[in-house]
Amino acid sequence: MTRPVRAVIYGVGEMGSLLTRLLLEKQVEIVGAIARSPAKVGRDLGAVAGLGRQLDVAVTDDAEALLGACEADLAVVAVGSYLETMAPHFRLCLAHGLNVLTLEEEVFYPWRRAPEQAAELDQLARANGVTLAASGVQDVCWALAPAALMGTARRIDRVRGRSTWRGDEFGPAVADYLHLGWEPDEALAELAGMTDGMTSQTSLETLAAFAGVTPIGQEVRTEVMVATTDLHSERLGLTIPAGRVRGFAEVVSMTTAEGIGLELEMAGFIHAPDESPVNHWWIDGEPDQFVGSEDFDGRLLTCTTLVNRVPDVLAAPAGLVTVDRLPLPRYRPGPLLIDP
Ligand SMILES: NC(=O)c1ccc[n+]([C@@H]2O[C@H](COP(=O)([O-])OP(=O)(O)OC[C@H]3O[C@@H](n4cnc5c(N)ncnc54)[C@H](OP(=O)(O)O)[C@@H]3O)[C@@H](O)[C@H]2O)c1
Repeated sequence: MTRPVRAVIYGVGEMGSLLTRLLLEKQVEIVGAIARSPAKVGRDLGAVAGLGRQLDVAVTDDAEALLGACEADLAVVAVGSYLETMAPHFRLCLAHGLNVLTLEEEVFYPWRRAPEQAAELDQLARANGVTLAASGVQDVCWALAPAALMGTARRIDRVRGRSTWRGDEFGPAVADYLHLGWEPDEALAELAGMTDGMTSQTSLETLAAFAGVTPIGQEVRTEVMVATTDLHSERLGLTIPAGRVRGFAEVVSMTTAEGIGLELEMAGFIHAPDESPVNHWWIDGEPDQFVGSEDFDGRLLTCTTLVNRVPDVLAAPAGLVTVDRLPLPRYRPGPLLIDP
């Protein structure tokens, strides 16, 4: 006898709201929602997520009480990016016997960046018989797709990715982070200590795991992107004069024991009217190859990829499981059901 999957939405922000909508489309029962700000706590999830309908799920800031009382199969966690801040949230879910599927980037492949924390969470998940896993845009678009293309080559020298996103599709905090309108030299000096390449690093390590190659070193560099003509962002109400910063790119280059270079450039910037976000991958070798998307909708793909992973995570062994250990991702046309 199957029944719909039951989930808690942990983090009702930009991503948590979109995930709520997409999970409901797959008939997932949302049995709880967690946020923090007084503007959200106590309100109905349907209103907070902008669904235009009541879900009869009140958003709470008492995660401990909710997770202890609800009978959910999993928590879908979209709160923050680094394990240092996310580990307490994961511990809480795992200790209450919930599987965790998260967008958090560092847990996507934590074994080299945060091995001790990863091992501790792995143990906790095993002890409670549940799985901790991450998915998102990296899973297929930045890891499995280029790794699969590698499986067609005679010789590979380097695998290069370039993924871009619109610098004005998020809020003003992101716009500040991109140093829009700054003098290039000043922005570069400021950015030098701010970027650590974590998202690209964990994506490339997943690509390496899918491809069966071993990273042995990496470099991170930041490049500011300068407007060549005046650029206007309607959304931010801002014009960037020619010669000033319109965003930046973070490039992670890895070496591997097999002599294959892996590189991923992620660039967020104000796009010119004739530009759109792309996700491009090149294999330099024999033969040279390319796979890529134009008009790349990274925001939607982040959430749809995660939703399609729900059955894989519920069926996965207990512990911290990275996506290279899950089955090949599949499109899920019907409702997400579980056989309890
Ligand atoms: N893997 C990927 O492809 C991918 C792509 C995009 C984003 N992400 C990840 O998703 C995360 C969320 O992104 P977003 O755009 O949705 O961010 P966001 O809009 O800022 O939402 C974050 C949510 O987490 C809640 N929150 C923050 N601290 C909390 C705490 N201590 N206790 C309970 N709730 C807390 C916030 O609550 P309040 O609003 O009430 O403060 C908000 O609901 C990012 O940090 C990133 O790691 C991953």
